[in-house]
Amino acid sequence: MKSSHELLLTALIATFANFHLVQAQNQEGDQQGFISLDCGLSPNELSPYIELETGLQFSSDSSFIRSGKIGKIDASVAWKYPKSRTTLRYFPDGIRNCYNLSVHQETKYLIRVTSNYGNYDGQNVSPRFDLYIGPNFWVTIDLGKHVNGDTWKEIIHIPKSNSLDVCLIKTGTSTPIISALELRSLPNDTYNTRSGSLKSILRAVLSESTKVIRYPNDFYDRIWVPHFETEWKQISTNLKVNNSNGYLVPQDVLMTAAIPVNTSAPMSFTENLEFPNDELYFNFHFSEVQALEANQTREFSILWNGIVIYSPLSPEYLHAITMFNPSPSLCEVGKCLLELQRTQNSTLPPLLNAIEVFTVINFPQSETNDDDVIAITNIKDTHRLSRISWQGDPCVPRQFLWDGLRCNDTDVSSPPKITSLNLSSSGLTGTIATGIQNLTNLQRLDLSNNNLTGVVPEFLANMKPLLFIDLRKNKLTGSIPKALLDREKKGLKLFVDGDDDNKCLSSSCLPKKKFPIMAVALSVSAVVVIAVVMILIFLFRNGKRSSLGNLFPFLVMPQIGITSTSISEESIETKRRRFTYSEVVEMTKKFQKTLGEGGFGTVYYGNLNGSEQVAVKVLSKSSSQGYKHFKAEVELLLRVHHINLVSLVGYCDERDHLALIYECMSNGDLKDHLSGKHGNSVLKWSTRLRIAVDAALGLEYLHYGCRPSIVHRDVKSTNILLDDQFMAKIADFGLSRSFQIGEESQASTVVAGTLGYLDPEYYRTCRLAEMSDVYSFGILLLEIITNQNVIDQGREKAHITEWVALVLKGGDVAKIVDPNLHGEYNSRSVWRALELAMSCANPSSEHRPNMSHVVTDLKECISSEKPMQCMDHDMNSNSSLEQSSNFDTEVVPSAR
Ligand SMILES: *[C@@H]1O[C@H](CO)[C@@H](O)[C@H](O)[C@H]1NC(C)=O
Ligand SMILES: *[C@@H]1O[C@H](CO)[C@@H](O)[C@H](O)[C@H]1NC(C)=O
Ligand SMILES: *[C@@H]1O[C@H](CO)[C@@H](O)[C@H](O)[C@H]1NC(C)=O
Ligand SMILES: *[C@@H]1O[C@H](CO)[C@@H](O)[C@H](O)[C@H]1NC(C)=O
Ligand SMILES: *[C@@H]1O[C@H](CO)[C@@H](O)[C@H](O)[C@H]1NC(C)=O
Ligand SMILES: *[C@@H]1O[C@H](CO)[C@@H](O)[C@H](O)[C@H]1NC(C)=O
Ligand SMILES: *[C@@H]1O[C@H](CO)[C@@H](O)[C@H](O)[C@H]1NC(C)=O
Ligand SMILES: *[C@@H]1O[C@H](CO)[C@@H](O)[C@H](O)[C@H]1NC(C)=O
Ligand SMILES: *[C@@H]1O[C@H](CO)[C@@H](O)[C@H](O)[C@H]1NC(C)=O
Repeated sequence: MKSSHELLLTALIATFANFHLVQAQNQEGDQQGFISLDCGLSPNELSPYIELETGLQFSSDSSFIRSGKIGKIDASVAWKYPKSRTTLRYFPDGIRNCYNLSVHQETKYLIRVTSNYGNYDGQNVSPRFDLYIGPNFWVTIDLGKHVNGDTWKEIIHIPKSNSLDVCLIKTGTSTPIISALELRSLPNDTYNTRSGSLKSILRAVLSESTKVIRYPNDFYDRIWVPHFETEWKQISTNLKVNNSNGYLVPQDVLMTAAIPVNTSAPMSFTENLEFPNDELYFNFHFSEVQALEANQTREFSILWNGIVIYSPLSPEYLHAITMFNPSPSLCEVGKCLLELQRTQNSTLPPLLNAIEVFTVINFPQSETNDDDVIAITNIKDTHRLSRISWQGDPCVPRQFLWDGLRCNDTDVSSPPKITSLNLSSSGLTGTIATGIQNLTNLQRLDLSNNNLTGVVPEFLANMKPLLFIDLRKNKLTGSIPKALLDREKKGLKLFVDGDDDNKCLSSSCLPKKKFPIMAVALSVSAVVVIAVVMILIFLFRNGKRSSLGNLFPFLVMPQIGITSTSISEESIETKRRRFTYSEVVEMTKKFQKTLGEGGFGTVYYGNLNGSEQVAVKVLSKSSSQGYKHFKAEVELLLRVHHINLVSLVGYCDERDHLALIYECMSNGDLKDHLSGKHGNSVLKWSTRLRIAVDAALGLEYLHYGCRPSIVHRDVKSTNILLDDQFMAKIADFGLSRSFQIGEESQASTVVAGTLGYLDPEYYRTCRLAEMSDVYSFGILLLEIITNQNVIDQGREKAHITEWVALVLKGGDVAKIVDPNLHGEYNSRSVWRALELAMSCANPSSEHRPNMSHVVTDLKECISSEKPMQCMDHDMNSNSSLEQSSNFDTEVVPSAR
């Protein structure tokens, strides 16, 4: 059996023979197949221009990239560099920024990225970042490792399509920079590799000179760096060398050579590889520069880690040959020893003119399907989308997936295709881009909440994989194509809203076909409720706080009705309010002040931008289902807005660190106020009623204002928060879960709720629905009235409902009401509230009112309280001014 080295040897011979067949190349330096970009060239300067130092024609990079900023290196070092390297482009924004170059498919290119820091930013911090070719990692640039903070990286690569992305990736805190981007096409019978691409490690001309050789001396503009060692001696010629093998090694390189000083010693090279498992390719370039006498021979062998792989080799006078290994060699423990050793017959030592070393770099990840790339680019251009993430490959690598896209990318070796496109709320105008029809694997399409005009295109019906289309909240006109409606009948989910002419068909206007009548009924009742509530509040305000009517108009109104809640899709909005963990640390001043313990974690006080106070809930790692709830909470809260619901300012989702940032509710939770934690103050009865109404309005909104409805599932006094005006807002949607009315039942699978507040029917049905919230609200109302613990084993009856029922039998309401109120309430109002609370807390859900009824009833309680309020005012006229300014939500000192 042949050893691998023998195989290598035969291959080398074959390769050698081939060289003589390669046609002579055009030696005129015409720069054909060159792309030379001067990155960051000022727009005021001429482009293209011929660089004096190299004779290369450079162009501005500005039409190949849409992001980044331009910079200039420090004047004190600028003179050292050719013009193209004195300006640069840097990328403070976005993680991935890409150049998109037009290339010839299946053509071999030498790609070179030059980065030259030159203290352009005056910070004296050398950047470190990664380079990618399309979706694949190429190399890390760490300018701190280079003496002058400059370097270039090269790769020999064959693009698989007609466009090529070269991307700079921010990997830490430093800003990626690029000074020049150069492509040189190479003949495809040179620099061959069995697989992958070739990453340059070394290209040296063995010369004592310090002159770097490149274009125009090198036709392909390879950069040959002089390298010489003390054990070597230089020999050279003035005569022209025949270099017409495909490699076109420059004359200057071939006219000098190195030989060992000790003529019997070998010439050796050791390569220490960055990665021990790297496969290595080398190219030796030889040309005899000495005219040998008849009795002289120069004959030597090539050795690989001590083993002869080629022998004998005798370079021809003034004639270039290139030796390389046609299949890659693995080095032992990352170390390779290459030697040239004279044979016994040779009268002269070995000679070498130049050497190139490469490692194989595999690009396993397939680029996104070409047609999809063309289509999405068309969509991007049609709608003039300029998103920072929309650069480079749309789908891969997954961490740089374009915003709003999803792809099937499970198999790296086959091209991903786009499966979901979400351009909701993207400010789109004009007609729907026709490029969409070329996304042949698209399953979800969300174009809602834009200003799209024109008709619903017919082609959507022909896109077989489509399962979901959302076109709501646009300015589309005309009717929905029949073919599309037919698709809907076969299961396509289509969301379209009607225009003024009501051209759309009812089946697509109503939220759900299965639920039309009830939906209408609900919205009618909601309208009635709004009207009643408005009138009541109006009367109430005018009657009591005329001076405040202006301050507090109808902001309280629930925005019942149309919220588009496609809860499953991660919205663009979500990303905007995302904070990093270090920002969270900063805003909480390293978690200095604790506000309390919320569901699943501790809540800290924080400050945003030095002005906005926030409550930061940091989710504990131990909270078992934490992540699931976290996601649910974020998704919900960012979509649901109501004056009586605590609003989410942002969130943090960084590896293990999950945090939710809420608006700060300066007066804490209702429980604390009832239990007297906040000093010696007691909430007045009227204030308590307002809090109850606020909470009821919040819940009513969740139940009827959101579509799909939301069941809170954990209504309790610690989840009712109070702002500085003692307005109540409902918090903690951690356990909320949206559900689709209809096909998916209201049943929830996750055990939830708090003991005592939990709907007793839950134990039987294991389901939590809106009526469960009503039950919990009843318990809350009992707490507000009685200030009793929900469960108290020391009472005659442990559970608050049983206790109230017991005391009520005795007929003494006064015994039930919180003694801290000292009788300062209207008994009629308290009685109505108690009745309402008990009906909410009815063990059977059938007998409970819905939240709309609860709101109406509570409003009536307030009106029955009104005469009492007026009386209060009359009695305490000295405090009326203060009350006005406090919206009737002040606390009064409790008499001890
Ligand atoms: C250079 O060498 C090749 C063969 O290797 C030969 O065909 C060609 O004619 C030579 N060119 C010159 C200018 O001598
Ligand atoms: C990249 O450039 C090519 C050629 O100029 C162009 O056809 C293609 O649309 C561009 N791709 C992107 C994503 O901009
Ligand atoms: C080499 O390149 C030429 C064009 O320069 C192309 O026609 C040919 O197919 C390529 N050969 C191979 C083996 O890739
Ligand atoms: C020259 O090289 C040979 C072979 O490596 C070695 O044996 C010899 O000692 C060397 N001579 C000198 C003077 O270094
Ligand atoms: C080779 O021949 C030349 C004369 O042509 C002579 O001077 C020289 O010594 C010879 N060298 C050897 C190694 O025989
Ligand atoms: C050395 O030279 C002799 C005569 O020139 C030749 O026969 C022999 O094969 C050569 N040996 C090697 C190892 O090349
Ligand atoms: C994506 O799906 C398309 C069509 O089903 C398929 O051709 C392609 O190979 C898939 N790509 C991956 C990476 O799974
Ligand atoms: C639609 O356009 C108007 C006017 O330019 C703008 O105010 C509004 O925000 C746009 N709506 C959406 C959803 O982009
Ligand atoms: C869609 O694909 C067809 C056929 O592949 C092509 O002719 C057309 O130009 C493409 N349209 C867009 C907008 O990409």
